[in-house]
Amino acid sequence: MSTDDVVGAAGSHPVALTTSDGGRLEFACAPGRSVLEAAAEAGAALPASCRQGTCGSCHASVTDGPYELGPHSEQALPPGERERGEVLLCRTFPCGPLTAELPYEQSRILYGGIPVREGTVTAVDPVTPDTVRLELRLDDPDCQFDPGQFMELQAPGGEPKRAYSLANTGNWEGRLEFYVRLREGGHFSSYLADRARPGDRLTVHGPQGAFGLHETGLRPRWFVAGGTGLAPLLAMVRRMAEWQDPQPARLFLGVNEPKDVFGLDELAAVAAELPGFRYEVCAWKPGPGWSGPTGTPADLLAAALPELGGAAPDLYVCGPPPMVDAVLHTAALGGVPPEQVHRERFLAT
Ligand code: FES
Repeated sequence: MSTDDVVGAAGSHPVALTTSDGGRLEFACAPGRSVLEAAAEAGAALPASCRQGTCGSCHASVTDGPYELGPHSEQALPPGERERGEVLLCRTFPCGPLTAELPYEQSRILYGGIPVREGTVTAVDPVTPDTVRLELRLDDPDCQFDPGQFMELQAPGGEPKRAYSLANTGNWEGRLEFYVRLREGGHFSSYLADRARPGDRLTVHGPQGAFGLHETGLRPRWFVAGGTGLAPLLAMVRRMAEWQDPQPARLFLGVNEPKDVFGLDELAAVAAELPGFRYEVCAWKPGPGWSGPTGTPADLLAAALPELGGAAPDLYVCGPPPMVDAVLHTAALGGVPPEQVHRERFLAT
């Protein structure tokens, strides 16, 4: 079937999307609708979060066809990526038949909408001065998701939803674990800082999102995190430990100051279970008593890449946009092919 065969309302344009595992999704996009909206109207919820061009989670590559890009954050879609035909589907408006590639497998598309469930807070533990470990238990214990995915959480009282990556792996007890950076004036941050208590009831929308592990044989897997960008990468290495994956794995975590370090016990637990897993933590502003490396995760990566004798690793990167961009730059200089770099930018919400 060609995109021309998709019939829609007058003035609509056919759209054909291909997933990384060869799945195809075809629908018509009415005038004034984004590709993301048109897909949802056709019954397919594509990975997305903000739906307004700021988070980058609806990233895709147009392979053919004219389109207009609506206003968006340059951190979500840097100019260089835009020039290569990369787009944010929530801001992509077809002007004719359009084909695009999605950087995730068909299983990440939710047919029938995003699941909405209720859960109970079981722990609210500060782990740094501005980071809280939040644990929930869903009413429905069947809690399957892929490492790298996120949930949107809604505090009691119908507050706005906020997206947070899961730090644990799918399970049959309904357990969800998050590391939330508290942001001044943020709705969910204020809830967590001021009044969250075990026993609170939260609404949970998900799982959602395209970020995740890719099966590429025995190539090394390297993970690069800034701050709470550790959460989805912790989920990935935990999954590797559960499945005893054979790929050699390294994780580089960067924090601003030593007081911002968290997750060491969890990383040590993975290292104890997963042969071939190593991790390093660096501080941008080390204080007296800091014995680890100084600098950024990009610096750690730059030092480590030349040590690698064989194939370039698959890279999984998550953190604030400037850190992610620095890591992408370092990876390109170090010869890591762009298709081996998977990233998620954490934007303040
Ligand atoms: Fe498109 Fe956030 S969902 S940029």
